[in-house]
Amino acid sequence: MAEELMPETPEESAEAEEQPIKQRKNGLYPGVSDELAQSMKSGWADTELHGLEPIAQATHTARRRAALSARFPGERLVIPAGRLKTRSNDTEYAFRASTEYAYLTGDQTQDGVLVLEPKGDAHEATVYLLPRSNRENGEFWLDGQGELWVGRRYSLTEAEQRLGIPAKDVRELPEQLREATGPVRQVRGHDTTVEAALTDKVTAERDEELRVFLSEARLVKDEFEIAELRKACESTALGFEDVVKVLDKAEETSERYIEGTFFLRARVDGNDIGYGSICAAGPHATTLHWVRNDGPVRSGELLLLDAGVETTELYTADVTRTLPINGRFNALQRKIYDAVYEAQEAGIAAVKPGAAFRDFHDAAQRVLATKLVEWGLLGDLDVEKVLELGLQRRWTLHGTGHMLGMDVHDCAVARTEAYVQATLEPGMCLTVEPGLYFQADDLTVPEEYRGIGVRIEDDILVTEDGNVNLSDSLPRQADEVEAWMAGLKG
Ligand code: GLY
Ligand code: MN
Ligand code: MN
Repeated sequence: MAEELMPETPEESAEAEEQPIKQRKNGLYPGVSDELAQSMKSGWADTELHGLEPIAQATHTARRRAALSARFPGERLVIPAGRLKTRSNDTEYAFRASTEYAYLTGDQTQDGVLVLEPKGDAHEATVYLLPRSNRENGEFWLDGQGELWVGRRYSLTEAEQRLGIPAKDVRELPEQLREATGPVRQVRGHDTTVEAALTDKVTAERDEELRVFLSEARLVKDEFEIAELRKACESTALGFEDVVKVLDKAEETSERYIEGTFFLRARVDGNDIGYGSICAAGPHATTLHWVRNDGPVRSGELLLLDAGVETTELYTADVTRTLPINGRFNALQRKIYDAVYEAQEAGIAAVKPGAAFRDFHDAAQRVLATKLVEWGLLGDLDVEKVLELGLQRRWTLHGTGHMLGMDVHDCAVARTEAYVQATLEPGMCLTVEPGLYFQADDLTVPEEYRGIGVRIEDDILVTEDGNVNLSDSLPRQADEVEAWMAGLKG
């Protein structure tokens, strides 16, 4: 990659060291002749776009803001998109807007901030953004965030038309926040500039109430969100197919080939992967969050692939398939796989409106405990005693699912009574993902079990009369998995 314009001689370099970076970047840079500076100011076409249509979710974001407004009357609410995070020197990590900001605006611009200012009984929303780069003062081509370096931004007028929210220059915001009177709440953790401006006006406890509200607001998805989750699942299914087609290449290289293959699908179809892909071959499948993905891929072993495409509007799938790398399960792999499949079927059947959130977990755990007892892994204990003592958890390890949406573990700061202790409602979307994991060094199971890990995970939408499996275009039943793999490998 290119560096920002550098001084041309050692003398100039020394001179430049002494000047504050801001000044250097804003047009007083040594090594730029007056003629060049003059030239860069003009000769550019007017590219302003007129009459832009609102984004597809503008009516939904307006409704979401109205719900937020109703919950916090009379209070100024500040919701930042977040800022770039430095990776090293002048390179940054890929930017991903905060979930809260994107949910309320449909926008994903770095440094953006949504402010809801109380007006009468309601609020007036303003989105604060970096405007188009100024070409007169050199910011356009000399500043690291100038449009010549990072690409064209929407003008504030264009942004207003697209988002349906009045837009102002974000550089004015810190001063306005410092001067603001009355109660304020902010979503923390995304924008240090905003936080510094509000430091004397907010409390952690009140800010947390705002974050909790926004987490709970996402428990029930609207129709735009459900369509996005469907898209995420469709792209994810294609990504799994991509992987099956290149398993021979993965055998020649490593789990990284699988990670890279899925990532390509995520970037081309969507925004990104929704979380670090778990590409766990052989005994790595027993490590729940195996994201190093640097191990060998061997015929005769299983591949546990847990991956999800995040759509361009930032909704992610979260899907796991456990696949025989050579296309056929052996007898023991199939016995364990079938048990997890049966547990998942029981779990999915328990997802319906009015059911307790915990029901699907309990249903899946009961099946797994029964299998473990049948296989003689729990001595003389019966299933009820095993469940009472939770002894199956040595091999089932994790909860059976979680809410899904813009975050893979969506709604994560919702109150217990609103989520884990609540009942399911139409429009909720959750994963059902039981698993069995026999660690390679587990001396309590027969040797042939050791190093086998199986998880099957699908994304289930609660409907008026039950549920829909959004990820069911990927087969789960063992024979169907084998037939699907054979078809793809040709
Ligand atoms: N991929 C993380 C999870 O399944 O929850
Ligand atoms: Mn997962
Ligand atoms: Mn999951």
